[in-house]
Amino acid sequence: MAPEITAATPADLPAVLELIDASGLPRAGLDNHVATTLVARESSRIVGTAALELYGGSALLRSVAVAAAVRGQGLGQRLTTAALELASRHGVRTVYLLTETAGEFFPKLGFTMIERSAVDPAVQVSQEFTTACPASALVMAKQI
Ligand SMILES: CC(C)(COP(=O)(O)OP(=O)(O)OC[C@H]1O[C@@H](n2cnc3c(N)ncnc32)[C@H](O)[C@@H]1OP(=O)(O)O)[C@@H](O)C(=O)NCCC(=O)NCCS
Repeated sequence: MAPEITAATPADLPAVLELIDASGLPRAGLDNHVATTLVARESSRIVGTAALELYGGSALLRSVAVAAAVRGQGLGQRLTTAALELASRHGVRTVYLLTETAGEFFPKLGFTMIERSAVDPAVQVSQEFTTACPASALVMAKQI
């Protein structure tokens, strides 16, 4: 059965962080955004995650990760789409992301590359932007 995507609970945080670590992504600050984190469960195991940091009309999509054993089956795409729907429900108009490793994944979902300086200043001060992701990361955005 396809993994079910639901909102994360605080009890999910350790498993989410484990998946983030295993996927080579920064975990800094994620604990402040559990309320807008999604998880994908297969049986009761967390096999995918995606998180949003909300900044008014803008959001930062981060921590999109799928367990290595279930990659390539569309789960990353489903998680990203679910995160975009969640952002839309929060009144977000522009979703940004930083990535070093998935520069060809997100354009399939309508994200386009932008300059770092074009990012909403409210997002630029986030921990992910200022410390967690290196300056060499690609910056992408999607209007929703
Ligand atoms: C990126 C990631 C979330 C994709 O998850 P996934 O479940 O394997 O992705 P999907 O099966 O939904 O793939 C959708 C499409 O993207 C492609 N794709 C998947 N990962 C990709 C990557 N890293 N780079 C380029 N393309 C990728 C797939 O081939 C597929 O293409 P298709 O529709 O033309 O067949 C997963 O590889 C991962 O956890 N990577 C490590 C963490 C990471 O880099 N996260 C992104 C930064 S926040």
